[in-house]
Amino acid sequence: MTHKYDLNELTPSRTVEELNRYIIGQEEAKKAVAVALRNRYRRALLTDEMREEVTPKNIILMGPTGVGKTEITRRIAKLVNAPLVKVEATKFTEVGYVGRDVESMIRDLVSTSVRKAEQDLMEAVRPQAEAAADDIIADTLAGLRRKKKESGSVALGSILPNKKPVSTEEQEAKLRSRKEKREAYRKRLAAGELEDEKVTIEVEDKGGTSIGMAGMEDMNINVNEMFGGLIPTKTKKRTMKVRDARRILADQEADRLIDKDEATELGIRNAEQNGIVFIDEIDKIIGSSAGTQGPDVSREGVQRDILPIVEGSIVNTKYGPVRTDYILFIGSGAFHSAKVSELIPELQGRFPVNVELDSLSQKNFEEILTKTENSILMQYQALLATEGVELEFTDDSIQRIAEIAWSQNETEENIGARRLHTVLERLLEELSYEAPDIADKHVIIDRAYVDDVFGPQIVDEQAYTKYLI
Ligand SMILES: Nc1ncnc2c1ncn2[C@@H]1O[C@H](COP(=O)(O)OP(=O)(O)OP(=O)(O)O)[C@@H](O)[C@H]1O
Ligand SMILES: [Mg+2]
Repeated sequence: MTHKYDLNELTPSRTVEELNRYIIGQEEAKKAVAVALRNRYRRALLTDEMREEVTPKNIILMGPTGVGKTEITRRIAKLVNAPLVKVEATKFTEVGYVGRDVESMIRDLVSTSVRKAEQDLMEAVRPQAEAAADDIIADTLAGLRRKKKESGSVALGSILPNKKPVSTEEQEAKLRSRKEKREAYRKRLAAGELEDEKVTIEVEDKGGTSIGMAGMEDMNINVNEMFGGLIPTKTKKRTMKVRDARRILADQEADRLIDKDEATELGIRNAEQNGIVFIDEIDKIIGSSAGTQGPDVSREGVQRDILPIVEGSIVNTKYGPVRTDYILFIGSGAFHSAKVSELIPELQGRFPVNVELDSLSQKNFEEILTKTENSILMQYQALLATEGVELEFTDDSIQRIAEIAWSQNETEENIGARRLHTVLERLLEELSYEAPDIADKHVIIDRAYVDDVFGPQIVDEQAYTKYLI
């Protein structure tokens, strides 16, 4: 996992440095995002009175497809552990889209954020949950777990003789021997000796309790949640290996151990303070010219609907009311035919930072292949390493790959860095297929290999269209 920073540690230059590990070029966009992040932090430190006056410095990223607009946003969100949602602005202009529910973006953000908070809390109780899971498994293996219990703690209550008055002595002896067995199982579990043994456990039966109500899909109402867990969780018996049972039981236990209200509160707060909403295709909600009728009216309508959210308002969600004041909005689009200045003035004012991203050069492509962390080349190397294949790229092969990608972008559609994926997939298609079967497990990709696949000159590119993402 990447190191997470506190916002105060993240000076703009530090942020840009971090982004440089994954994204080549686009200095201006990196700086803009870094500053926006810092400004949000600065704003949060102001007095209430001053804060009201300072408007957030939301950003619009302009540039062709596949040059890093989404990637920069994703990386920045990861860097500060910020909940992020992506929406397509055009979704709100769709014909038949009733009510243009733009608030759904905030509800989605909060849901994402609360889920994240739950996972974080569950992670923190993981050791406890795993210990509880092992207890359950040991009980089960020792035959000490007959009845279903609602809590995961050790289930002695359920095996105490409380029904027919029977020969107590016999019962006690039986119980003693089972307890001894349980101790033995616990030790063997701890030693990892039972991982592949089969065990039958009670698994909570999720699903079936979620119903959608017409027009309220976004509210995502879960009946069980609505009734605060009044409906007993259904369980079913499943037999599986101990290692799998532990994972499932530990998840169930962790889910029980965490405080859901705490998760909700943390989630809401993180969404409000750190949330990022990425509005893609924002240029597509710009009407072509003033005064036109038809679809353009609805585009401007979408802008008006979005405005209060971006300006700062309170949105009701199933988790409670959420303030949008500090949420960072990043708009993105190609802006081929429309300009930012054609947005309605109020919305323009809320996106004061506009940056253009450059289209990527052949040199950029080379750097994307060689200088980024977990680059695509490394990904292929890792994938093939699982087959025992050691994959090596010579420098001149990488140059050639970059060159092919670049010229394919020139001659066909320019799909930016995504082209690298299609080129590499084509290049390694054969090897990917044969990797498990080849004898010589050390494969060197040199320029000749690349030319062999693509031809010294670029040939018919139509053939590669199936690899377009
Ligand atoms: N400057 C860059 N440096 C490194 N990788 C990049 C760069 N630009 C794009 N990529 C890679 O290319 C892919 C597509 O990039 P991204 O999703 O950011 O495109 P985009 O600009 O959002 O395009 P679109 O307008 O189509 O959404 C991603 O896998 C990303 O990692
Ligand atoms: Mg994108």
